[in-house]
Amino acid sequence: MADEEREFDYRIGDFQQVRRLLYERSGISLSDSKEQMVYSRLARRLRALGLNSFTAYFSHLKQYDEEWQEFVNALTTNLTSFFRESHHFVSLAEHLKKHPRRNGPVRIWCSAASTGEEPYSLAITAMEAFASLHPPVQIIASDIDTGVLQTAAQGIYPLSRIDQMSNERKKRFFLRGKGSQEGMVRVRDELRELIEFQQINLLDPRWPIEPGLDVIFCRNVMIYFDKPTQQHLLERMVKLLRNDGLFFAGHSESFVHATHLVRLIGRTVYRPANPSSGRP
Ligand SMILES: C[S@@+](CC[C@H](N)C(=O)[O-])C[C@H]1O[C@@H](n2cnc3c(N)ncnc32)[C@H](O)[C@@H]1O
Repeated sequence: MADEEREFDYRIGDFQQVRRLLYERSGISLSDSKEQMVYSRLARRLRALGLNSFTAYFSHLKQYDEEWQEFVNALTTNLTSFFRESHHFVSLAEHLKKHPRRNGPVRIWCSAASTGEEPYSLAITAMEAFASLHPPVQIIASDIDTGVLQTAAQGIYPLSRIDQMSNERKKRFFLRGKGSQEGMVRVRDELRELIEFQQINLLDPRWPIEPGLDVIFCRNVMIYFDKPTQQHLLERMVKLLRNDGLFFAGHSESFVHATHLVRLIGRTVYRPANPSSGRP
């Protein structure tokens, strides 16, 4: 978009300022190509707040703490879908069948849950693997973005989101909306009951997650971070996993070089490299 067509004055310095602030808050590294995306996403915030320039928006951010969450929510990319990279759910089902835990539930952390399709796919996989609507599984689904977490917790989606799913899954796990909810589906309560939704910024120095996890899904979020941040997060996540736990990364995220931390055992699926004495 040409400068003169823009509603708000937007200079390269504004983009650089946004890039710096977002990196500090969330670890997300924006490339130069995201200049227009930043403008259109934040222009909505300026309009909503009745501000007339990016400079005024930066002052507003300094003054009103609550705007930081809106700032982050506006700039995250939340693309996701049910059973995305479906081979991971096949591996997970095999793992659950091979490692049924006898004392305590199987614990899964879905660390970039977005609008919920990924944790609900985990919950469906668990129900199918244990052939029960009440499998011994606990799922923590977290994200930095509070807007997507709200959608996730509601579990209501346009019917088109489950287009690709088998009829059997559609029938077993979703309820079709009627009246004003026509064209929408809602996940069954049993699915929601398996999942605890909470906001976690992966950049925070402490996560409210107990060690001894069986599975971590950390897919399609590391790509937004620079290499040192990725390495540091992987190190912290591996410490939370059991020795026989699994770490699932996204299709374009590779940790094959981090041999001191993880060992590749399937398509972007890893195990902790070294049995840790502190780990169960
Ligand atoms: C592209 S989506 C991936 C969703 C899902 N994992 C998948 O693969 O379909 C990336 C998600 O990472 C979240 N995210 C980005 N930075 C984060 C951070 N610092 N901490 C936690 N989540 C973050 C975004 O809000 C977004 O929902």
